[in-house]
Amino acid sequence: EKGGYDTFMEKEIHDQPQAVADTLLGRTDATGRLILDELRIEPEELLNVRKIIVLACGTSAYAGMVAKYAIEHWCRIPVEVELSHEFRYRDPIIDPTTMIVSISQSGETMDTLMAVRYAKEQGARTVSICNTNGSTIPRESDAVLYTHAGPEIAVASTKAFLAQITAAYLLGLYLAQLNKQLFSEQIKDILADLADIPAKIQDILDRGDQIKQLARSMKDADSVLFLGRNVGYPVAMEGALKLKELAYIHAEGFAAGELKHGPIALIDDGQPVFVVMPSPMDRHSLHAKVVSNIQEVRARGARTMVVAERGDEAVSAYAEDVFEVPETQPMLMPLLTTVPLQIYALELSTAKGYDVDQPRNLAKSVTVE
Ligand code: M6R
Repeated sequence: EKGGYDTFMEKEIHDQPQAVADTLLGRTDATGRLILDELRIEPEELLNVRKIIVLACGTSAYAGMVAKYAIEHWCRIPVEVELSHEFRYRDPIIDPTTMIVSISQSGETMDTLMAVRYAKEQGARTVSICNTNGSTIPRESDAVLYTHAGPEIAVASTKAFLAQITAAYLLGLYLAQLNKQLFSEQIKDILADLADIPAKIQDILDRGDQIKQLARSMKDADSVLFLGRNVGYPVAMEGALKLKELAYIHAEGFAAGELKHGPIALIDDGQPVFVVMPSPMDRHSLHAKVVSNIQEVRARGARTMVVAERGDEAVSAYAEDVFEVPETQPMLMPLLTTVPLQIYALELSTAKGYDVDQPRNLAKSVTVE
């Protein structure tokens, strides 16, 4: 059942090319137009959406942050992302033009379920992105977009995360197709690049030894920082969460631009810092800014480990370790840059002799408040 791997988590990391491919499957017609009939919300109603609020917890909330960057950029609809447990205890502004997108692997997370119920009572439309057929959250939502990652057994979420991001991209592209913020050719180009992602994930998995070796050499680290920008920022936070959950190492993910506002004070000799590089093609030239961040932390003694696009010459001069991921368009990079961080956490946890599938104090679905 572990498919020849030692742990479910390792198997599930290796399932990711399939998880992304299956989530894309059957969602376009012969002409390449997206069809999401399963959404069961009338196009006219979707065209009335003025605001989207993503509700989720943990890793699923990081998928929600990626969704925010993509949907705002492609559809020009404002997107808020909120942790479900915070959302329901404030006084959120919701009306029938608000669309709630909940993201939950299990579909049973109590905090998210309660937040969705609350939003429904206030009159919002509710869409669920979920990996578990027939679970409670999709049953109680107006519509569901299933991720097809297959059952995820390991407590730490991996393949469900990539499938959630994929589904969120599809939702964003579908809304952009409806409200015509993108030309159909642009949508086709993005879909074509998405279709290439599974093979690119496989390419990363095939080179996993490099990151495993690095992880094994860092068994004694007691804190690791992760930096990213734009869609790389949620990836940095996800990398940090995986390390906390699996290796019980203190880890934090920052937006790289925030460094100078405080976190840089943490950097001293030998402090490991993982950097998720933006694409050299990023339209805001964030790449150069993050190269400067690497130099800044290095000058203060940090040990820098960088995940960068293949052929990114600018980083090699400044980083101790560079792990390359294949090229794709900037918005889609999280589907690739997340993978080395997962392998890193898995291997570090294994090197420390921990149970990666059942980390201490954690449950697979959190069905209590
Ligand atoms: O089933 P859900 O996606 O609603 O679960 C949300 C979080 O509990 C979950 O992502 C948690 O953070 C995982 N342990 C992450 O690896």
